[in-house]
Amino acid sequence: MGLNLHDHRSLVARLGLAFLLGWIPNVARAQDLRSGESVGWQGTGSCAAAACHGGRTVPLALKGSEYTFSQAYDPHNRAYSILFDDRSRTIEKNLKHLRTIEEARPFENDTCLRCHVYQGFSSEAKWTRSPDFALADGVSCEGCHGPAGKWLTAHTELGWKGLSDTQKLVDFGMRPTKDLLARGQSCVECHVGLGSTDVNHDLIAAGHPRLFFEYGSQLAKLPKHWKVGDDKRRNPDYEAKVFVLGQLLTAKASLDLLESRAIRSLPADSTSPWPEFAEYSCFSCHHELTPRGWGAANATGSAQRGSLQWGTWSLPLAGILPSDLTGLKADDSSSTFGSLRALMTVADPDASTVAVRARQASADLARLAEKVNQGTIAPEEVRSMLGQSLKFADNGPKLDWDGAARRYLAIVALDKAAADFDPRYSDPAVVNGLEKLYQGLNLPMRVDRRGGIFDSPYRFDPDRVEVEIRSVQAALPNH
Ligand code: HEC
Ligand code: HEC
Ligand code: HEC
Ligand code: HEC
Repeated sequence: MGLNLHDHRSLVARLGLAFLLGWIPNVARAQDLRSGESVGWQGTGSCAAAACHGGRTVPLALKGSEYTFSQAYDPHNRAYSILFDDRSRTIEKNLKHLRTIEEARPFENDTCLRCHVYQGFSSEAKWTRSPDFALADGVSCEGCHGPAGKWLTAHTELGWKGLSDTQKLVDFGMRPTKDLLARGQSCVECHVGLGSTDVNHDLIAAGHPRLFFEYGSQLAKLPKHWKVGDDKRRNPDYEAKVFVLGQLLTAKASLDLLESRAIRSLPADSTSPWPEFAEYSCFSCHHELTPRGWGAANATGSAQRGSLQWGTWSLPLAGILPSDLTGLKADDSSSTFGSLRALMTVADPDASTVAVRARQASADLARLAEKVNQGTIAPEEVRSMLGQSLKFADNGPKLDWDGAARRYLAIVALDKAAADFDPRYSDPAVVNGLEKLYQGLNLPMRVDRRGGIFDSPYRFDPDRVEVEIRSVQAALPNH
């Protein structure tokens, strides 16, 4: 994280932890992620001693085995080593217009390392890392728990347990990972992007996978070195809350990224693309229903600007979220998102205005996320949200791939949430219906003309997806 947490103490004392968490990315961005200037990254080795987190491998996921467990299962620990493989080299070759992949050294590109090692990584600022820090560990403990320079010793001492989350964060730089909002904040920094650390269309066209983050499913997929039972004890509405927070966090991180994209494009000599293609539905330009997949992009990318869909992955699914979260509708021109969307879909959106509006909308979302995090989502609300996620308006527009995939993820999350209150929701017919729905969203891998690998939904059929969603609805108790 590119900031000296101490400098902000008095401000934090006034504004509180919640505000700080929403605010970290802005500070980091302001410094353009010249990170870690004053914070020490210690490296995984410092956590791995047998007496600390490297002990007791069996049974896994018990206290003390976090390191051994992560080494064996967590996909994050290969995040650096994959930068040596051909796919990464191809991305780098395409980006830098090199002749061969042998010349490409993505493992030395700070842009890659800021997500594939830690947020704000700088190869020049070597003094911010302990001599034992090993890039080879990939995204390691500190990527989620915070740089350990100030807390490594302190967290083993008597009295540490008595400190509040705010003290641990502000005085020591340790992130409150038990807090679902703070936890998700760390994920989106790498899984959505942060300031100039950006998987934009240039990177995607060079072969980087498109980033589509959904908190509930990503958290579920991650092999865990903690007990989800503890999460559920702290949050009886765990599944629903993670889903709702994820909607707000993903949107907020995307708006922060939009603001950064807009600002970066402003200087007269800027080489940052604007408007940034990755803001829009990929399928507005790449015609999904042809077997040629991505390669079928309109060469100018602009012939159909009028039909460009903005924010199809990132905007909150307003119709599904709890009814007291207002102001999120993108089809209402008086809402924050409505006015942004109107701006973003004109031929040449004014970057300064977009930056200002994006920042306002981000602040609105931070407030809503805080409210959700403090509250509890009631079982009736969960069932009502699940009902909404299965609904189709009569003669409404067909779902595109993004819309269908997000619906699927919402239904899975809310069905799990409902099942936590009422076991009848885990009916095999529902599970079976969801499985069929998932098959319909499959993205076959394809190889493009420059050797890049990408996923293309060229077999996607919106009618089939609608049928599957209706069959899930029919299988639910009391549908
Ligand atoms: C904004 C953060 C970010 C940046 C910048 C970034 N990546 Fe990634 N990268 C990710 C994430 C997150 C994933 C995992 C995507 C997923 O599976 O959901 C990923 C996945 C990948 C994969 C696929 C890995 C696999 O197991 O299939 C490759 C290859 C890759 N990145 C290479 C690179 C290279 C090379 C660069 C620099 C040119 C780079 N990345 C820059 C975040 C980033
Ligand atoms: C992808 C993010 C992520 C990474 C990487 C990560 N952690 Fe965690 N860790 C979490 C989350 C989330 C929790 C659950 C909340 C909590 O207990 O703080 C957690 C919990 C823990 C706990 C408390 C477990 C318990 O049962 O109370 C320890 C100790 C821990 N992690 C150590 C580590 C170590 C050591 C590493 C590196 C080998 C590591 N973590 C890597 C996210 C991460
Ligand atoms: C410092 C950056 C960073 C942070 C923080 C981070 N990730 Fe990741 N994550 C990555 C990268 C890079 C990859 C790709 C690794 C690869 O495939 O080799 C990845 C891969 C994953 C994967 C496997 C890929 C997939 O989509 O199946 C999951 C799941 C995941 N992350 C979940 C999380 C969650 C949940 C959090 C927050 C608790 C989190 N990550 C925090 C960078 C990060
Ligand atoms: C405004 C139109 C537009 C949007 C929106 C758009 N693209 Fe593209 N895309 C293009 C054009 C034009 C090219 C060819 C030029 C280039 O490589 O940048 C291209 C190239 C690509 C390529 C390289 C394919 C090849 O054969 O060279 C990939 C992969 C790709 N886009 C994926 C995506 C994804 C994923 C998204 C959504 C996140 C997306 N695009 C959004 C217009 C667009």
